[in-house]
Amino acid sequence: MRKPILAANWKMYKTAAEAKEFADQLLSYLQEQSSQYLLQEQVEILVCPPFTALPAFAAATKGTAVATGGQNLYPRKEGAFTGEVSPLMLKAEGASYVIIGHSERRQILGETDELLNEKIKAALEYGLKPILCVGETLEQRRRGETAAFCRGQLAAALSGLGPEVCDTLVVAYEPIWAIGTGESASPQDAQETIALLRQWLAETYGPDEAAKVRIQYGGSVKPENVAGYLAMPDIDGALIGGAGLQAASFWQMLQAVAALKA
Ligand code: 13P
Repeated sequence: MRKPILAANWKMYKTAAEAKEFADQLLSYLQEQSSQYLLQEQVEILVCPPFTALPAFAAATKGTAVATGGQNLYPRKEGAFTGEVSPLMLKAEGASYVIIGHSERRQILGETDELLNEKIKAALEYGLKPILCVGETLEQRRRGETAAFCRGQLAAALSGLGPEVCDTLVVAYEPIWAIGTGESASPQDAQETIALLRQWLAETYGPDEAAKVRIQYGGSVKPENVAGYLAMPDIDGALIGGAGLQAASFWQMLQAVAALKA
C-alpha cells in the first residue's frame, strides 16, 4: 500500500521569514488532534522551499509530520562549485527529500539526462529521497510521443541503478504544458501515462519493486481538482506549485486527499 505524498514546490518564492510564517500556519491547522491523526496516517506532507528558506522551514517543522525537501542539488559532497549546494548540506539543514530534474531546470538551466543521473546517485548516496520529474512538451503530446519520451527520461535518469532504488524513489509526472498554465491533464490522461511509467519500472526492476514507487502528478493541481487525481489507481500524490504557496490552500488539498484515502 503506497502512502500518498503531497509536496509543495515553492520554486523561487518566499524568504526565510515567509517560510516560517507558512510553517506556523500549517502547523496550527495540523494541531487539531483529529486532523493530525488523520493526516499522519493517510498522507505524507512535504514542502520544498528555496535554499535560503530551507533551514528556517526545516527548523520550524522539526519533529512534526511536515517534511522538508530541496529543489535541486549539485552531485558532489563539497568543492569549488560556485553557487551550488551539496546533498550533504541539504541533509545537514534538515531536508529528507530533493527534487531532481524539474522541467524548469531542464529547460531554463539546461540540465541534461547525464547530469540528472549523477544527481539521483548523489541524493541516494547521502540519504536524500529523490523526486524525479519527467514530462513532455505540448508538441510531443500532439505527436503522440508522451509515453515513449517520459519512459526515456526515466531510463536515462535511473541508468546504472539497481532495483533498490525503488525503496526510496518518488517520480513526478509533470506535463510541461500543464505547469503554471491553469491547464491540467485530465485525471484519466495522467493515470494513463503514469501507468505506463510504472510499467517501465516493472519491466526494469520487477513488478514488486515497481509497486513500491510513488508516482505523483504535477501541473496546475489545486484544491478543486486534487482528489480527482488521487482517486486514480496509479497516482500516489501531487507536486504542487502555485497552489502550494498559501498554507490555507495546501491544507485544503491535504484534507481532500486524507478524506479520500480514509
Ligand atoms: P503549478 O502547480 O504552478 O502548475 O506548478 C507545477 C510544478 O511545476 C510543481 O513542480
